Amino acid sequence: MNIQFSPNKVSGTKADIELVFVLPKNMKHKWVRDEAALKDLGFKAEEKQTAFLPHKRKIYACLASFDDYDLREGAAAALNALKKTRFKSLKVGLYGATSARALSEGFILGSYTFERYKSKPEKSALNRVVISAEDYEGRRHEPAMVKADIRLASIMCEAANYTKDIVNRPPAEITPVKMAEIAKDMAKEKGLEIKVRGEKYLEQEGMGAFLAVSKASPYPPQLIHLVKRSKDAKKVIVLVGKGLTFDTGGLSLKPSNAMLTMKSDKSGASAILGIMRAVADLDLPYEIHGIIGATENILGRHAYKPDDILRAKNGKTIEVVNTDAEGRLVLADCLAYAQEQSPDYIVDLATLTGACVIALGEYTVGVMGFNEELKSEIMDAGSRTGELTGNLPFNKHLPALLKSDVADMANCSKAKYGGAITAALFLSEFVDKKNRDKWVHLDIAGPAFVEKPWSWNQAGASGAGVRMVTDWLLNLGKNQE
Ligand code: BES
Ligand code: ZN
Ligand code: ZN
Repeated sequence: MNIQFSPNKVSGTKADIELVFVLPKNMKHKWVRDEAALKDLGFKAEEKQTAFLPHKRKIYACLASFDDYDLREGAAAALNALKKTRFKSLKVGLYGATSARALSEGFILGSYTFERYKSKPEKSALNRVVISAEDYEGRRHEPAMVKADIRLASIMCEAANYTKDIVNRPPAEITPVKMAEIAKDMAKEKGLEIKVRGEKYLEQEGMGAFLAVSKASPYPPQLIHLVKRSKDAKKVIVLVGKGLTFDTGGLSLKPSNAMLTMKSDKSGASAILGIMRAVADLDLPYEIHGIIGATENILGRHAYKPDDILRAKNGKTIEVVNTDAEGRLVLADCLAYAQEQSPDYIVDLATLTGACVIALGEYTVGVMGFNEELKSEIMDAGSRTGELTGNLPFNKHLPALLKSDVADMANCSKAKYGGAITAALFLSEFVDKKNRDKWVHLDIAGPAFVEKPWSWNQAGASGAGVRMVTDWLLNLGKNQE
């Protein structure tokens, strides 16, 4: 989707169709001109209602408010309503200070389709949106600011769509090695450094937890390490992603229904690739590392087993209670590796637990860590990008649930409750004491993969975390002023 800027008024801007937003039961503003025709169509200005008037070349959409979230939703809804038409371009004006960015986001994210495997792709004809600098209430907007907002939205949302494309591809194609190839191609295109390490390296480094998970797979595990350098880097940030190209549960096998969609267990890793792409385009003044643990959790002769005892890179031993709690094992070693970069911040993204989805619902990212301020910075970024977040607090009782009789800890708790938090507490055992306040864990198990479309998200991958973490990085300097 191509988003363009027009310095002209909406009426003086060229496009096939004009999009006009209205508020519930409030049809009065300067761009509303077709009240009689709308009445005939039964348009009552009710929330989420759209009306397309092809002869007038106009589409109206009613939004609950003109805040960024609703504008983003409205932009995507308008595209949906026009999807089957032959119109190629759309124009729209501004609805407040940050509306150019929100609208661009809705258009770019909302236009995503995954049709790589369809013999007859149904591409929408509409591929260009022109945003006019005119405001519905006559406020003045600096053209340079509007253009910068469109650029920012394009970078972040193209990155999110790129992430969706990786997550949506099937597990037979996106093997750990293929994931590394995708990372290499992206690094080359964007001028990032990249190292890819295989099984030998993991053995040398004592990464016994990551290795155990990978044992049954015919594909070698891959530790993918991308770096975005900057001449005068002010901070070092490491981002770590869970890259399970498929999660069957291993010997603690998942039931068929729960296994379906587990191609999405690589969403954290795919988000890292999207974020690294965005930070390269934005050329942020930081040294940013993207570290991915890519492997598969399947059955096989060499599969790791419940009762196994593993030794992680930091020397700690882990009793395997359930082979389906594999993501935390991969991340344990990746987190230990990540800290060798002497980071100022460590953020991991993972589809880590079903418990997080139960706790917060499928729309919300679980945010965990010891540093309340850092967590709220990231949650603030989420509210700017329209990604929903929920704080899941640690407490002094939960760590005891990971006790093991035979090893330093168990890989999961035997208790029924609090599984998202105990998973995060498990990860915290692999974050050195001196780094604990630098670390945040984002459990994206709910929003990473969409069952029923919502807001601007289609069914399938959503690119969860990409825009939120990129926005946090973008505002890092401002937060500290
Ligand atoms: N990949 C899953 C978590 C998941 C569940 C992601 C649903 C997306 C949607 C993870 O590896 C897993 O299986 N976790 C177990 C942990 C349990 C065995 C302690 C879970 O959540 O059931
Ligand atoms: Zn699992
Ligand atoms: Zn998993």
